[in-house]
This record gives sequence, C-alpha cells and structure tokens, in this order.
Amino acid sequence: MENSLPRRMQGIKPFLVMDILERARQLEVVGREVIHLEVGEPDFETPEVIVRAGQKALADGHTHYTTALGIPELREAIAERYNHLYGLSISSSRVVVTSGTSPAMLMLFSILIEEGDEVILSNPHYACHPSFILSAMGAPVLVPAGAEEDFVLQPDAVRERITPQTKCILINSPSNPMGTRLDGEEIEALAALGPPLVSDEIYHGLSYGERDRSALEYSDEAFVINGFSKYFAMTGWRLGYLIVPERYVRPFEILQQNYFVSPNPFVQWAGVAALREGVPAAEEMRRIYAERRKTMIRGLKKIGLPVHREPDGAFYAFADAHPFGENSLKLAREILEATGVAVAPGADFGPGGEGYLRFAYCNSVENIELALDRVGCYLASR
Ligand SMILES: Cc1ncc(COP(=O)(O)O)c(C=O)c1O
Repeated sequence: MENSLPRRMQGIKPFLVMDILERARQLEVVGREVIHLEVGEPDFETPEVIVRAGQKALADGHTHYTTALGIPELREAIAERYNHLYGLSISSSRVVVTSGTSPAMLMLFSILIEEGDEVILSNPHYACHPSFILSAMGAPVLVPAGAEEDFVLQPDAVRERITPQTKCILINSPSNPMGTRLDGEEIEALAALGPPLVSDEIYHGLSYGERDRSALEYSDEAFVINGFSKYFAMTGWRLGYLIVPERYVRPFEILQQNYFVSPNPFVQWAGVAALREGVPAAEEMRRIYAERRKTMIRGLKKIGLPVHREPDGAFYAFADAHPFGENSLKLAREILEATGVAVAPGADFGPGGEGYLRFAYCNSVENIELALDRVGCYLASR
C-alpha cells in the first residue's frame, strides 16, 4: 500500500501517540480505568467567556465565509497581543488567520520551499513538523538537541548544518516534547545565522519562568506560527495564525482561498473573545499546570525516570527511560497494559527521542501521583 503512494507521502509516519490513545480507548471500552498522560491536549474545558462568544456569533448569523486572511477584528487583536507582549509594532496586515496551526504549517512550507530545499529542526522535535516539510517535497535536516545539547537547538550545531539548500530554521520554544525553552540570546544567535526563522510559538503563555521571547523580537524576517489550542484550551475549535513578512501576505491569501476558502467565522469571534477577555482564565490554567509540573518532575525522579533538564514550558516532561530498554514504543505499550497509564513513546519525536517517554501533565495532581505510583511499582518489578 505504502509504495502506491506518491514519493512525498512515503516519509510521513504515523503519529505513534495516537496508536497508544487508540489502545487506551479499547481498554476503557472493556472497563479498564486509564490515566491519560499521553496526549498533549489541555484537560480543561474552553473558558466560558470564549464559549459564550462563539455561541453568540452563531446566534448572530456568523455562519458564512469570511475574507481569506481572517476577520479584521481578530487580525487586529492578534497584532495587539504580540505588540503588547513582546514590545513590537507589527501591523495587523501581516497576520494570516488559519484553521489551527497545522494548516498554517502546511501552507507555510508550500510557500517557502522548492523540492529538495532543506529545513533545519531539532531532534527530538514535534512529531508532525517533518511531515509538513516532506509534503512540500522539502528535506528535514535534524540537528541533535538531546542530553548533550541540554535539550535545545544549539546555534553552533545549527551553523554546521547550514548549506546553500537551507531554506529556513524551524524553532519551537517552549518545545514539544521536551518542555524546554530557548532564551533571548539563543534565539538571537539562531536568527543571526542567515536563513529565516520559522518559529512555532504555540506554547507561548505556558511558561513557568521568565517571559517567552518571540522570534519577531530578533528578526523582522521571521515567520511566526501560533494558535489557540494550548494556552486557551481550544484544541477542537481549530484556530491558529501566522505572522509573516508583508510581501508574503498575498501568497498566503491566494493559498488560503484555494485550500480552505476562509477560517471558520464563529470560531474567529471566539478567538477575539479569547484575546480580549480570556487571558485571566488562561492564566488560572497556567497556575494549575505549574503545580502539576512540580509533582510530575519530583515523581518521575523518584521512580527512576529522571528528567535531565527541568522543563519550564508547555505541559511536558521528557523522562529518560534508557535503563528500561531502547524501544520506547514497546515500553509505553507495556506500561499501558500493565498499569493502565498511557504515556507517549519518545520515538514519536524523531530518532533522538528513542529511549525517552513523554509525560503530559494535562491531568490532575491526584491522577499524576497515582499514575507515577503505578508506573514506579511496575518498573521496579520488571
Ligand atoms: C509544537 C506544536 N505545534 C503545532 C501543534 C498543532 O496545533 P493545532 O491544534 O493548532 O493544529 C501542536 C500540537 O500538539 C504542537 O505540539
């Protein structure tokens, strides 16, 4: 079957964590209780103020196509948020609203790269990042960002991998799966290397130390990808956006017209409410994640799954499971069957993730404690 697909599709791998989730659901159907720490999705409901705005927009008849780039009110609110948080002065004309960050990436790489162009990214990385590059016939170039590199993309290591074919450098801070962040100096050094930065900032806001830095603080040529799924707990709404250099706005408009016509109208109005009125609720969720983070890191250490660099962003802990074998998918499957705890295999996140397990703290402190207790007992008895 695989061989009958076009070549550009053949490198696109299944998302292993979804296989774990599928098996967890099967166990639940037959009455097993499962604690979910596998999927990177907020367990919180979308804040009420956002839901009400979406409902009102529907009742008010916002059920038609909008302009391809998104409604002006949302583009304006996005530009204002970036300008306010990062001390920028970006015009809303540079904002492209999309149906989630995933379609944003699909369009971005279609616009940026020719067949064979290289895109540098970290290894480990978000599971789907290379897929978007491959579907545009580009070549992902993986730069180690493991224990030796302190789990971030190191500018010196990136410099060595730049070639005439390098089209852009993809960064993701706070990162999935490591939960680590690049500081301002690191982003500045990466921006100075030459190729433009593509910065996936979807976990901005979910940070537990110093404030996040946007790539736009260091380069006007950067492409920012962001969305409402994580910080505002809006995964199912499908709302994201790009901020791009002015000259790229028209190509995005043309592609959006062709691929998606427009983002969803009432979801865009919910997005306006999120930015204008939803921040206090989002900040309350962040406070809760911060508590869970401590429980998770402490608990993992105790059961022999250390997290080498303390994550201070997103909602992930990337635990070293090498002493329990090199096959993280096998280990994640065993843990699920034996303990009813679902976790993500590190192999999902590139070859550099093998031997690790990703624990998402999108669950209550009580469930995290219970889950780690069970996993600890199982690993000790293995
Ligand atoms: C780094 C990163 N980028 C993008 C996405 C996709 O987000 P969206 O729901 O906006 O498509 C995810 C989802 O897990 C992610 O972790």
